[in-house]
Amino acid sequence: MILSIEPAARIQGDLTVPSDKSLSHRATLLGALATGVTRVGNFLWSADCLATVRCLRGLGIRIEQEPCGDLLVHGRGLRGFAAPDSTLDCGGSGTTMRLLSGILAGQLFTSALTGSEALRRRPMDRVIEPLRRMGADIHGREDRFPPLQIRGGNLHGVAYRLPMASAQVKSAILLAALYADSPTVVIEPAPTRDHTERMVSALGIAVAVNGVEITLDPKEVLQTALPPMNVLVPGDLSSAAFFLVAACLLPGSELWLRDVGVNPTRTGLIDVLRQMGADIGLAKEHLVSGEPVADIYVRASDLRGVEIGGETVPRMIDEFPILAVAATQADGTTVVRDAAELRVKESDRISTLAAELRRMGARIEEQPDGFVIEGPTRLCGAEVEAHHDHRLAMSLAVAGLLAEGQTRISGAECIADSFPDFELTLSRITQRRS
Ligand code: S3P
Repeated sequence: MILSIEPAARIQGDLTVPSDKSLSHRATLLGALATGVTRVGNFLWSADCLATVRCLRGLGIRIEQEPCGDLLVHGRGLRGFAAPDSTLDCGGSGTTMRLLSGILAGQLFTSALTGSEALRRRPMDRVIEPLRRMGADIHGREDRFPPLQIRGGNLHGVAYRLPMASAQVKSAILLAALYADSPTVVIEPAPTRDHTERMVSALGIAVAVNGVEITLDPKEVLQTALPPMNVLVPGDLSSAAFFLVAACLLPGSELWLRDVGVNPTRTGLIDVLRQMGADIGLAKEHLVSGEPVADIYVRASDLRGVEIGGETVPRMIDEFPILAVAATQADGTTVVRDAAELRVKESDRISTLAAELRRMGARIEEQPDGFVIEGPTRLCGAEVEAHHDHRLAMSLAVAGLLAEGQTRISGAECIADSFPDFELTLSRITQRRS
């Protein structure tokens, strides 16, 4: 599918963005581990989250969609899954494959996980290695890539130092740790999104967080029925990010984004944009299902270049494509370092970003662990490619709003992985240039 974007004058309005993807996955998975019916309000009906639903159904879990859009998960307890009679298809969703691997490591049957061509190129040794150490029999193609074959076992607690800052790997280990006969400690190189810790704690399981060290004590968890939950998923800051940046950059723009998750492990982009000179405010901050939520207000302003590295990187790991678009319009140099993880996302985001933004006239130089952008540049509409990467596609769409002439993004169907209504939402708040 080709998405055509015309230049915009400004954006204006009041918006609720799609529900949080990370939380939708986790609420569904943990709902399946509980005993009884978990209700996931505001579940994100996107391709990635539906992959989690499909896999759980393949494991014998009943999942229903309520007329209001809520998801009902009929949890069968930690060991209530049925052995699947075919390979589980994770589609393009790395979160599904990695988090589910942690759960399957605790099951006393063999299962296999595969996914789209793009997912089958993404590294899984990062979960194979710790889950194997915990006692699971787990193999991948070349011991590194999907498909994965997992024979769960009686697991042991481990102390595991993560080689990379990854919430998916941390979560896989913590989910496997529920099945272990002793506590597990995960040590992160830098804090990553802590949704799993929050939700597992809400189920009454002891999770102690001490800086970057997370300890889960599974004492008697296997003998206990976990209570079903009532989770309300807030808006996804990673989806709000595209409009946040568009409103910063298009002169005269003014936008409210309602009920967005503002967990501090996710708000790196807001901090960085403010450092660049953005006019962003938060209102009505409160907790929903144990997660911080707020309304976000943004108004156009002039931005300047910024340096990003260290602990900020995992706090905005999905926002670098849209940050790069902001940097093309900022005055001066923007430098991103310590972000080599971008190379193993839905696409190699360092090289795809550089290639596609250059086609639109950006001055961007690739680095092994990031990029350097010189701004401001006048972008021009171009034929660009999404590379199976929803966040790259939506970032290019925002670049298209700023450009001279039409931008055509091919392969834009991947936007449905996280934001099926993106085009409609964008057209609702965009005012055309006259
Ligand atoms: C996610 C963690 C991040 C992020 C991904 C969702 C999660 O991946 O990029 O979109 O839900 O845990 P990594 O754990 O690979 O950094």
